[in-house]
Amino acid sequence: MKDEILRVQNEALAMIHAANDERSLDEARVVSLGKKGSLTALSMAMKDVPKEQKVEIGQLLNGARAAITASLEEKQLALQNITDRASVAGIDATLPARALHTGGLHPLTLLRERAVGILRRMGFALADGPEIEDEFHCFDALNTPADHPARNVKDTFYFDSGKLLRTHTSSVQVRMMEKTIPPLRIIAPGTAYRRDEIDSTHLSAFHQLEGLYVDRDVSLPDLKGTLEAFLRELFGAQTAVRFRPHFFPFTEPSFEIDVKLEVKGQAPRWIEVAGCGMVDPAVFEAVCQSRGDRKYDPEQVTGFAFGMGLERLAMIQWGIRDIRLLIENDVRFLRQFA
Ligand code: PHE
Repeated sequence: MKDEILRVQNEALAMIHAANDERSLDEARVVSLGKKGSLTALSMAMKDVPKEQKVEIGQLLNGARAAITASLEEKQLALQNITDRASVAGIDATLPARALHTGGLHPLTLLRERAVGILRRMGFALADGPEIEDEFHCFDALNTPADHPARNVKDTFYFDSGKLLRTHTSSVQVRMMEKTIPPLRIIAPGTAYRRDEIDSTHLSAFHQLEGLYVDRDVSLPDLKGTLEAFLRELFGAQTAVRFRPHFFPFTEPSFEIDVKLEVKGQAPRWIEVAGCGMVDPAVFEAVCQSRGDRKYDPEQVTGFAFGMGLERLAMIQWGIRDIRLLIENDVRFLRQFA
């Protein structure tokens, strides 16, 4: 019996040693340790071993099983290593890695996100309105008379229905006042449309950022302080800001805002960046009429509004000479911002 155990053990180890793939190794396992395997058969024969030899034979059997199992595991690992190495054999780890092509945000998006981020920190909430507007929200409620040039078919895209593509984002002011009671502090970035000839400074579809603050006792210093702080954060703490009297139908008094900046490679000069003013009482009256209450009674509330062109801000920020670069989607241009 002892010789038999040693013979079976050596036979199994020899088989394992000779195995050169998973299949032959598995066969070696079945032949020795399997249900009908040689070592299994010897284990079953234990019951016929005389009592006084049981301990010794048992130990031999256990030793043989342990040796075979260990050898199987070792060979299994060795075979696995060979397959692993084969699967990377053709790879040259010294070659340079292939470059990743990641996209980037469009400069207008970058600019808008920065501007919106600054104003949100100042307490303005994001608002939104339709690009296809009616004359009431785009003009009438904004105190713009029927014969105002901006309402001309030569300047504005009209639909047969009488609706139009909004010529500015100021229509969102009216819609938000219709929906919400004061105090109201909103910004509305969005697209505006004008029948302009396209050239290096004009597009027929462009982007604006509108702002409106209505509360009791909102005053001109609030407007100046807010916009100066905004523009200095956007363009740098040294930026000089000036308010130049102007006219808009929906604000009184009204201003255009200029910043003094050095656009790359040019001498510093004043550049117009925004329109603004104190909300005209006529606008509050129109809103009260439309709402059917007096929540925006011009005797009770005041407000300021502002609007700016995002293309123009982006052109100033990066010294872009031609506005059309912003819509041509030329990757050689866009790549600089990624
Ligand atoms: N809506 C004006 C424009 O498109 C800008 C503006 C907004 C002016 C708000 C005053 C107040 O030019």
